[in-house]
Amino acid sequence: MKTQVCIIGAGPAGLLLGHLLRAEGVDCVVLERRSPDYVLSRIRAGVLENITVSLMERLGLDQRLKAEGLPHDGFNLADGERLIRIDIAELTGGQQVVVYGQTELTRDLMDAREERGLEVIYEAEETVLFDVESDAPYVPYTRDGTQHRVDCRFIVGCDGFHGPSRKAIPASVGMEYQREYPFGWLGILADVPPCNHELIYANHERGFALASMRSETRSRYYVDVPLTDKVEEWSDERLWDELAIRLGPEAAANITRGPALEKSIAPLRSFVFAPMRHGSLLLCGDSAHIVPPTGAKGLNLAASDVHYAAEALTGFFNKSDNDAIAAYSDTALARVWKSERFSWSLTKLMHRFPEDGPFERAMQQAELDYIASSRAAQTSIAENYVGLPV
Ligand code: FAD
Ligand code: DHB
Repeated sequence: MKTQVCIIGAGPAGLLLGHLLRAEGVDCVVLERRSPDYVLSRIRAGVLENITVSLMERLGLDQRLKAEGLPHDGFNLADGERLIRIDIAELTGGQQVVVYGQTELTRDLMDAREERGLEVIYEAEETVLFDVESDAPYVPYTRDGTQHRVDCRFIVGCDGFHGPSRKAIPASVGMEYQREYPFGWLGILADVPPCNHELIYANHERGFALASMRSETRSRYYVDVPLTDKVEEWSDERLWDELAIRLGPEAAANITRGPALEKSIAPLRSFVFAPMRHGSLLLCGDSAHIVPPTGAKGLNLAASDVHYAAEALTGFFNKSDNDAIAAYSDTALARVWKSERFSWSLTKLMHRFPEDGPFERAMQQAELDYIASSRAAQTSIAENYVGLPV
């Protein structure tokens, strides 16, 4: 098969990019290793920034997001008895974030495939990237035991942290920046009303907790746990008890418990690979970078990469303009690094690190005191939380 752009991976980055390219008349095909049901079974992000919402609007695929998404004007940082509300709408000239699950966003993009003429080949296995340094790269893959091959002008790697795209860039031209954290987030999804109408990020002496939601009847909660913990060691009851302690008495009084629909542990990592383009290969989303989840940046960063990549590729095919392709890596990385910084600093502020002593704890308290008392500090957090401009 011959096409202009071969996209590897049909997570949110790959599907968004595919739709944006099709909307501009650029030919593309998306290769996805898993089945649609498997992709939808992964419970991940829940908070959308402006950039992600505006891409869905631009595609005209925002009906369900508008009807079912919950716009939030603020969120809370809790430290012991203290609750600091960050009024993002007031501090950013009326901007909001929208609570709408990654699963729902992915479903909306999947459901529009046929109507928009976006070809996604699911269960495409053994994808390999060839000749990425040339103007005619190609991607062989197998499906149902049969070999196929996509010939194209560009490949875009939207295949997540473990996919093959980043590895197709020679080590001699790439640089990895990495930090691993000594804990993971244990998450629970349950069909119970949220304990608070806004998110609460809590720093408690027993560790971090986050009260989030997917809707008015579905809650998502997290606690941080040592990397050695196994999900099986956390019965629903143990996890609800821990959440009630870490979120504090006021939130605890409003927690409704229920059976877990999903429960899993995700490790925390900061990771950036540069450059994000090599020859005819562009990287978008988790294939190029990972942020720790504190601050809900992962999915939104994938969306801003896709925005830049779509502009660059449509410029190339529709206006014979090569400049944005040449600038793609620098343009995307400038925003990536700012989100990396925000996610890292909020992670450091809200978690108890095993290596930290009284000095580091005093620094956290001083920073939280400063945030509580300074409009400038709150504005800085708010503008990062709603998403920096693209
Ligand atoms: P992905 O969603 O990972 O999609 C990549 C796709 O590529 C997958 O469908 C995969 O099957 C496919 N693929 C992989 N290899 C191949 C191959 N060889 N051939 C073809 N296809 C391939 N972010 C938040 O903001 N908040 C959260 O709470 C949060 N929780 C998370 C929990 C977990 C366990 C993980 C892993 C991430 C979480 N994130 C969270 C991050 C956020 O979900 C990601 O940043 C987002 O999914 C990135 O989208 P993506 O399309 O780049 O990658
Ligand atoms: C969710 C995840 C996050 O990492 C975050 O910062 C906020 C919300 C969530 O899954 O709901």
